[in-house]
Amino acid sequence: MYLTKEEERILDGEEGEGLQKAMEILVALGEINEADRLMPISSAQVSGVSYKTIGDAGLEFLSDMASTGARVRVLTTLNPMGVDPSIWRELGYREDFVNKQMRIVNAYKAMGILLSCTCTPYLIGNLPTRGEHIAWAESSAVVFANSVLGAKTNRESGVSALASALIGEAPCYGLHLDENRNPTITIEVDAELKNQSDYAALGYYVGKSFGGIPLFKGIKPGMEEMKALGAALAVGSISMFYVDGITYSGSALGDKINVGIEELRNSYESLTNTEDVDVVCVGCPHYSLKEIQEVLQAKPSRDIWIFTCRQNKVLFEKKLDENIKIIADTCMVVSPLEDLGISSIGVNSAKAAFYSANLSGLKVRFDSLENMLKL
Ligand code: F3S
Repeated sequence: MYLTKEEERILDGEEGEGLQKAMEILVALGEINEADRLMPISSAQVSGVSYKTIGDAGLEFLSDMASTGARVRVLTTLNPMGVDPSIWRELGYREDFVNKQMRIVNAYKAMGILLSCTCTPYLIGNLPTRGEHIAWAESSAVVFANSVLGAKTNRESGVSALASALIGEAPCYGLHLDENRNPTITIEVDAELKNQSDYAALGYYVGKSFGGIPLFKGIKPGMEEMKALGAALAVGSISMFYVDGITYSGSALGDKINVGIEELRNSYESLTNTEDVDVVCVGCPHYSLKEIQEVLQAKPSRDIWIFTCRQNKVLFEKKLDENIKIIADTCMVVSPLEDLGISSIGVNSAKAAFYSANLSGLKVRFDSLENMLKL
């Protein structure tokens, strides 16, 4: 891979150990993927924040990196951590978990990363425009950025997104190149999608069954539905999609597949292993203002936790009934709900359903919010 003189200097350690390590990561990644060069990026989104998911090894890596004095060179936001620091005692988190979590967050802060702690950075101002090159790690945000915003990013790991943030560049391959951004399969949707969980069920089925870049026909999603669809697609290996008539006009190369009610039912059933749940958890990806308002207007009578960014939380928190909690900075997956005495949750997100069962060992009901609030 071609490196400029400045990049060579960084690789040789002339800008310090932290940037040297970051450059080594980017060069290795670029060479594996046959990138011909590094390219400037305008923003980064770093995942790997919760102590639950990265543990002591991650904490040590980040502390070491921060101690080198390296600082990010582009706008960089952070994915959810493992706890909402403003209500951890009330919800019953262990103090040692919270302490280690805050050490992780402080290491990121020392590197100049904004402590946004959300998987929807595009809702709080990390909002690249069409054609901008970025290095984002959160899989649902990667899909949203590529598909809805028209920005260009590969699905980075937490480590490679951090390295890109510190260098201000990313290896030029994959979805950074226009020739790799064409639709490769057409998904003709024969079912009426009534709510976000239907979009999530569709995304989960397509993400698990196919790769490439799907072009959806027969659906008319709004922003929130595309957010739900993208997060579910990302449970598979899909990092980008198109919607006919909304983000794309033309035809796709490759096969045409019909997806109907049977396939959606298959998603619901395969992601559900209980009917009764301790609490309904929504906000995967983090809920927008509109989504929060819809939940509150439904006046749910059962326990419901709404996960969102802290900017949204402050707008609602004074008006809540006892059974409703708005929780910021974390989510139902990366937070150790299983340590809080919760053994089952209801979700309307296929991504949350998949990881809550497989990462946290919770019993899960994947269903529409409407059905779950009726219980
Ligand atoms: Fe966000 Fe957590 Fe879902 S990080 S996309 S709410 S698993």
